[in-house]
Amino acid sequence: MKLGICSDHAGFDYKTDLIKALQENGHEVVDFGTHSTASMDYPDVAHPLADAVENGDVDLGIAMCGTGNGMQMALNKHQGIRAGLCWDVEIARLIRQHNNANVLVMPARFIPFEKVLEITDAYLSTPFEGGRHQNRIDKISCR
Ligand code: RB5
Repeated sequence: MKLGICSDHAGFDYKTDLIKALQENGHEVVDFGTHSTASMDYPDVAHPLADAVENGDVDLGIAMCGTGNGMQMALNKHQGIRAGLCWDVEIARLIRQHNNANVLVMPARFIPFEKVLEITDAYLSTPFEGGRHQNRIDKISCR
């Protein structure tokens, strides 16, 4: 898969290690930053990632900040984005099965890196169920 990824300073170290793991598993990864642990504003990387997912430049996105909430809020301002915040594996499966989430968001300051790997694997390997969930997704957009 071609994946887009971004983090703020709080998620930078996890992003660096996750990119390596994804590439080792055969994924192509586009890194939207940030590129250091220097303090920065998460919307500055969330919006470019969201644009890339909406345009189809990448298949799916992954984003991390301290709590995950700032990233999720910025990403979900985009009409074509369904970003889901995940802190465990079952939620990661469900944001794909039920919500067809096109961006996975994780709280870097609240889960160990091992959990980041497990959540990402669950997210990428779970298909959307469609059916009644498609009707619900079709009603999310407010325009
Ligand atoms: C950065 O200190 C922190 O506010 C940010 O990573 C994130 O948690 C915001 O939602």
